[in-house]
Amino acid sequence: MLKLVLGVNIDHIATLRQARRGLEPDPLQAALIAQKAGADLITIHLREDRRHIQDSDVYKIKENINIPLNLEMAPVPEIIEIALKVKPYKVTLVPERREEITTEGGLNVVKLLPDIKRTVKRFIESGIKVSMFIEADTDQILATKESGADSLEIHTGKYANSIGLEREKILKCIQEGVLLAKGLGLIVHAGHGLNEENMDAIAKIEGMEELNIGHSIISRAALLGLSQAIGDIKKRII
Ligand code: PXP
Repeated sequence: MLKLVLGVNIDHIATLRQARRGLEPDPLQAALIAQKAGADLITIHLREDRRHIQDSDVYKIKENINIPLNLEMAPVPEIIEIALKVKPYKVTLVPERREEITTEGGLNVVKLLPDIKRTVKRFIESGIKVSMFIEADTDQILATKESGADSLEIHTGKYANSIGLEREKILKCIQEGVLLAKGLGLIVHAGHGLNEENMDAIAKIEGMEELNIGHSIISRAALLGLSQAIGDIKKRII
């Protein structure tokens, strides 16, 4: 079994900062902590609505980390131009709707194929790897191969939100998707909604190479660090 790459998504550090439009917590500091703690990859999503990660974060993080940067982005002109300037190790193309709470569902590569092919070509020519965030669906996997992307990230959101037989059914579908993608020579990643309770079955899928995890790590970190943060303040007022 290959050692899996762990991509740590730090968007929610920026979400917290943007709640006050201030300076803390600083996503760069979070990226450096993640790097020190063993993250193999830093994942950030520059959304069109800039609700969490800002353009300056992308540049600062790219310049200051020494592990690869995975930039999640919608395949839209403004963000494509930024990504080509930043030159992250990899871009992951995701769908985006302004009203969504988080990325809901995978990218419809089948529908967008002509445009996506042009976008992929530009990234590959610039030396940037390209991944597609898709559902474990045969047509989407075949279209991803046709797009010229080197990898795909299977959306595990529905798997994470289901239980019992429904979860088993989705897991089987993901396993079949991985098999198909590997057969086509694609590199396979997975992400969304993964946590300590549900990640093992996904991590164990033969051929799985990378997991991208954000919300569960940042949520847990907030509670694990709360005691120290309170203690540090308390010391100053006693
Ligand atoms: N992978 C992709 C493509 C995503 O859009 C996200 C969420 O931003 C993640 C992984 C991480 O998901 P979560 O925060 O639920 O772990």
